[in-house]
Amino acid sequence: MAVSSSSSLLLLFVLFAFAAAAPKDYILGGKPDAWKVPSSESDSLNKWAESVRFHIADHLLFTYEAGKDSVLQVSKEDYVSCNISNPIKKYNDGKTKVRFDRSGPYYYISGEKGHCEKGEKVTVVVISQRSPSVAPVSPASAPSPGGGVEGPAVAPSPTSSADVLQGGGVLMAMGVVASMWVF
Ligand SMILES: *[C@@H]1O[C@H](CO)[C@@H](O)[C@H](O)[C@H]1NC(C)=O
Repeated sequence: MAVSSSSSLLLLFVLFAFAAAAPKDYILGGKPDAWKVPSSESDSLNKWAESVRFHIADHLLFTYEAGKDSVLQVSKEDYVSCNISNPIKKYNDGKTKVRFDRSGPYYYISGEKGHCEKGEKVTVVVISQRSPSVAPVSPASAPSPGGGVEGPAVAPSPTSSADVLQGGGVLMAMGVVASMWVF
């Protein structure tokens, strides 16, 4: 009796852990059509983005009227100065779904003239792989494998792949433990 109930509890825990580790889809601003010039400072998309913990492999959906607006992923410099002339990526389909493949900041501005200056811009900071038992590690506090890697633009990649391996190892270990209990 005791064994079967504790093993099903463990199985439940493993299922929850997998659910917690699954990538999540977010809609920008938490509501449809939020990609527009904000009506007030308190309506700013950055306020919303700061309240969300984005992880690698999560998706973010921008919705807006196709053809009337666009989403540009830009460098930090172009984000700050609202320079729309050299985007890293450009989307204008009205339902833009982006996937975060690395940790670190992502900068988005509107491609419509004047919109970015009026606040239609958002910074998304992706922390790490979603992982059930390992607390989220920020790129700044994680040890860099080489020790000599300098500069935030380079550091996140080795860190994030290490996190992926760690997360996978933890999940595998839990799976093995769970199957030993169940079978
Ligand atoms: C935008 O960036 C491009 C390339 O970096 C530069 O040539 C241009 O002067 C910039 N425009 C503004 C308005 O800053």
